[in-house]
Amino acid sequence: MAGHENMFFLIGLFISGVLACFGQNGLNTTMPDRLDVLTGSCVQIPCSYDIPGKHHYTFNSTIITSGVWIKENTHFYRHPDNVIFNSSKTVNRYQGKITGNMSQKNCTTVFFNVTTNYTNIYFFRIESQPFLATDIEKSVKIVVRDFPSSPIITVSGEVKEGTPVSWNCSAVAPCPEHPPELTWTLPTQFTSENQLQENSDQTKSVLSTVTFTPSYLHHEKNITCTAVYPVGTSNKRAEHNMMLNVSFSPKDTSTSISPADPVSVGSCVNLTCSSTANPPVTNFTWFKISEGKTTQVASGQSYTLNVTVVDGGLYYCEGRNSHGCGKSNEVQLAIKGHEEPVNPKVFEIVGKTLGLIFLFSLIVFFAWRRRTSRLPSGFDMTDRSQGLVGMNSPVGTVCSNQAMVGRGNQ
Ligand SMILES: *[C@@H]1O[C@H](CO)[C@@H](O)[C@H](O)[C@H]1NC(C)=O
Ligand SMILES: *[C@@H]1O[C@H](CO)[C@@H](O)[C@H](O)[C@H]1NC(C)=O
Ligand SMILES: *[C@@H]1O[C@H](CO)[C@@H](O)[C@H](O)[C@H]1NC(C)=O
Ligand SMILES: *[C@@H]1O[C@H](CO)[C@@H](O)[C@H](O)[C@H]1NC(C)=O
Ligand SMILES: *[C@@H]1O[C@H](CO)[C@@H](O)[C@H](O)[C@H]1NC(C)=O
Ligand SMILES: *[C@@H]1O[C@H](CO)[C@@H](O)[C@H](O)[C@H]1NC(C)=O
Ligand SMILES: *[C@@H]1O[C@H](CO)[C@@H](O)[C@H](O)[C@H]1NC(C)=O
Ligand SMILES: *[C@@H]1O[C@H](CO)[C@@H](O)[C@H](O)[C@H]1NC(C)=O
Ligand SMILES: *[C@@H]1O[C@H](CO)[C@@H](O)[C@H](O)[C@H]1NC(C)=O
Ligand SMILES: *[C@@H]1O[C@H](CO)[C@@H](O)[C@H](O)[C@H]1NC(C)=O
Ligand SMILES: *[C@@H]1O[C@H](CO)[C@@H](O)[C@H](O)[C@H]1NC(C)=O
Ligand SMILES: *[C@@H]1O[C@H](CO)[C@@H](O)[C@H](O)[C@H]1NC(C)=O
Repeated sequence: MAGHENMFFLIGLFISGVLACFGQNGLNTTMPDRLDVLTGSCVQIPCSYDIPGKHHYTFNSTIITSGVWIKENTHFYRHPDNVIFNSSKTVNRYQGKITGNMSQKNCTTVFFNVTTNYTNIYFFRIESQPFLATDIEKSVKIVVRDFPSSPIITVSGEVKEGTPVSWNCSAVAPCPEHPPELTWTLPTQFTSENQLQENSDQTKSVLSTVTFTPSYLHHEKNITCTAVYPVGTSNKRAEHNMMLNVSFSPKDTSTSISPADPVSVGSCVNLTCSSTANPPVTNFTWFKISEGKTTQVASGQSYTLNVTVVDGGLYYCEGRNSHGCGKSNEVQLAIKGHEEPVNPKVFEIVGKTLGLIFLFSLIVFFAWRRRTSRLPSGFDMTDRSQGLVGMNSPVGTVCSNQAMVGRGNQ
């Protein structure tokens, strides 16, 4: 019966057509999922393929194979316009070139003069009679933009003063023949170099690395990486700005005293410590220098005293964070109506002078020894300092809220 034969023939034709069009997984391609491209530039699609075992017998890689790129979907027989590149043809809808060696299963392709209407998904097909196959399971999405995406800055580890740190800046290079040029803007001297790198999906990127040793002066300064893409005769720029967050030990630690004038016994004096540090100071400690002896007297950012006669003297504070500590200047707490506490330097000069007087007095004393046993006036000084030592032990009474602990500062 001729009708049956015709039907079987048609079914056979249909099946072989389906096999030819869809390949039935006769082709496995490897390419990136997505490529971001600049208008007017080129795009390189890294591509490789493999023929699964059961289809090997029809595929002979030494026979010249044509590579075909199809946009949107694989139904090119219904939409012949979707075939945008066929390596067997000299004129194609897209200007391009298969730069990979097809005999070595490399289907890497470059398209030139990309326009925004190239934004689409693309499938790859091989035609190498009698082998015909399209990979229907894998496509690459090409997204064309007028402006490049920003490069990406990454940092190795913690940025802290005195420790060299490396910054990487990476920019995609979809058209590796015209890669972007990367430049840095930093608050310090530096050297850097650009290199083209291959990513895990075979796409290319330009990487630039700089290393420098940050100081606390670089804190909150900007660091910028600029990528300049050559497109035709002009350039397109994109940049990444990043504010440095340098951690550092306390700097500019200083003490202020309020009121600054001499105070009378029984009044309140407020000592305040300030410091810049990153992270902020968590522990302020107060010290008093008296008689050349330093004693820790309080903690907390401010220290308030209800002044007693023994509180006069020099005070300073120390600020501490996880990176170290900073010591402030010394301020003097002077008490009205009492002897001005003696500055150590003044004390030294007075001591030396009195010492000389004492020596002179001794000589006079020995000269006069035979006639009289009266004590010379030079011993006054010794009396006075002994008196001060005796007063050193009790620490000054403080006002109700002794010291506001600076720990709740953060
Ligand atoms: C592949 O084709 C070449 C050239 O036609 C031929 O010499 C070779 O034997 C073929 N190889 C296979 C495995 O069929
Ligand atoms: C690719 O070009 C060849 C040669 O012109 C042609 O035989 C083949 O049908 C074309 N393939 C597609 C999918 O258009
Ligand atoms: C494929 O060809 C491209 C372009 O010629 C080349 O850059 C790439 O290294 C090749 N890939 C492999 C796996 O050989
Ligand atoms: C492609 O690869 C084949 C086999 O490895 C080699 O004979 C041929 O010279 C290569 N073609 C090019 C253009 O490199
Ligand atoms: C297309 O690109 C090629 C190579 O990049 C260039 O020489 C040519 O001038 C471009 N053509 C147009 C129309 O932009
Ligand atoms: C894409 O758009 C350009 C103008 O931007 C036009 O000249 C070209 O024909 C279009 N190409 C396709 C394949 O639609
Ligand atoms: C910078 O890039 C190099 C090379 O890829 C890598 O070894 C290093 O870990 C990267 N450093 C940072 C901070 O990302
Ligand atoms: C630092 O960068 C920010 C944006 O990240 C910007 O607003 C600021 O003006 C920049 N500062 C300087 C000094 O360039
Ligand atoms: C200081 O202490 C004295 C005695 O303890 C008290 O009488 C006086 O009111 C206190 N002064 C202040 C300002 O707290
Ligand atoms: C001391 O000075 C600090 C900072 O100016 C202030 O916060 C605090 O209230 C003052 N304490 C007293 C008791 O005046
Ligand atoms: C800067 O670093 C410090 C300490 O490492 C951290 O506490 C702080 O949150 C960071 N600041 C910003 C703006 O990232
Ligand atoms: C603050 O620093 C002082 C002096 O270094 C230390 O004795 C004290 O234990 C510290 N306190 C805290 C809470 O870290």
